[in-house]
Amino acid sequence: MKNKMFTLRDFIDIPGKNIYESADCFQKFIDQMDARKAYAFDITSTSAIGARMNIIDRYGGEVIKTTSFVTNNYLGMNKHPKVLKAAQKAIEKYGIGTCAAPPIGGYINIHSELEQKLAKLHGKEDAILYTSGYAANIGVYQLLLNKSDIAIVDMYVHASVYDGLGKTNIKIFKHNDMEYLGSVLKVVEGKYRNIAVIVDGVYSQDGDLPKLVETCDLAKKYGAFVFIDDAHGVGVFGKGGKGTADHFGVEDKIDLITGTFSKSMGTSGGYAAGAKQLIKYMRHYSRSNTFSASVSPPIVAAASKAIDLFTQEPHIIKTLWDNTRYLKKQLTKRGFDIGKSESPITPVMVRDDMKTMLIARKLLEKGIYVIPAIYPAVRLRDSRFRVNVTASHTKEDLDYFCEALSDVDKEFNFTVS
Ligand SMILES: Cc1ncc(COP(=O)(O)O)c(C=O)c1O
Repeated sequence: MKNKMFTLRDFIDIPGKNIYESADCFQKFIDQMDARKAYAFDITSTSAIGARMNIIDRYGGEVIKTTSFVTNNYLGMNKHPKVLKAAQKAIEKYGIGTCAAPPIGGYINIHSELEQKLAKLHGKEDAILYTSGYAANIGVYQLLLNKSDIAIVDMYVHASVYDGLGKTNIKIFKHNDMEYLGSVLKVVEGKYRNIAVIVDGVYSQDGDLPKLVETCDLAKKYGAFVFIDDAHGVGVFGKGGKGTADHFGVEDKIDLITGTFSKSMGTSGGYAAGAKQLIKYMRHYSRSNTFSASVSPPIVAAASKAIDLFTQEPHIIKTLWDNTRYLKKQLTKRGFDIGKSESPITPVMVRDDMKTMLIARKLLEKGIYVIPAIYPAVRLRDSRFRVNVTASHTKEDLDYFCEALSDVDKEFNFTVS
């Protein structure tokens, strides 16, 4: 064990160790990374989170000015003057918080207006707000799927979907494998009260899309419902940023869309959109909505303004896509493996946890801030950087990033061609 290189997998549910002992053991992982100046998490920023960030160096204490690719703030909405103004006006009118759950007094007219806006955005009858995308998935799945039901989920759906499925039966299918999905649906047909197929609109580590048309066709054939978590699709895909279901032309075939304000809308909070009776049911029984204080007024106003902006000003999404295409082209030209990404989420594959952490450090020293995606976020042999392009990056930012990456590749050798 003396020279063992630890991974995060080594510290989960340690046999014979109580909670304090387990936590103490985990320190070994941090020590191992600190010894190489490579611990890349829990980094503190002294500026807004965006394309340019000032971060405090864990190993010297000084502030490093960086070009950053860590945020899902795809459209730069967290600093858009009109979004900030809307939030400020909401604070003046409604105060900073509601301090009450929606069904017991914490529901104001702008909550309802935002819900209607989201329903319209997704072509659904109604929508319900949650305090995060995570809470939305927990709230939806804990309520709707129980012991007599089964969830058939793509293996790469977000952790919050898995965490919401604790009360039901689960069958996981290989990523985007429609043949396998079909065979599972065939086996479970007629054996459960509800059969739900669950996919992400954009897969958050690989940046690829689901096979949504085929998924919907198969679900219909076998009498299953379709649920989609479109956290990364809204404001990015579809006409006017309506999301992945619109992109594939299958909005009417999706039973429930969950989403977040923490990506293209630049703030925080989440929602689910679907049929009127489902949403009404959720308002009373979806515990992360019913038993949690409602989304604060400035956040509601900010999300609402962000939607107005990206639906009405097409140049915002166009800039994101211009940058996305440019970066992918440059990285591919330089021989980096960017997987199957079809979205602004651009993985740069390294396939070795320690190497990924060491490269992140080297890049930081060059003024580039990227976060390594290592186990458990991805499988052990799939470690990579998850590079998020935004509309706020300039061509110079993207060129500088590519040059820095090529420079570091001379030492670490992770290009594939
Ligand atoms: C696919 C997906 N769903 C849900 C969430 C959770 O969203 P939030 O940050 O609003 O809790 C995330 C966030 O990382 C995500 O990537």
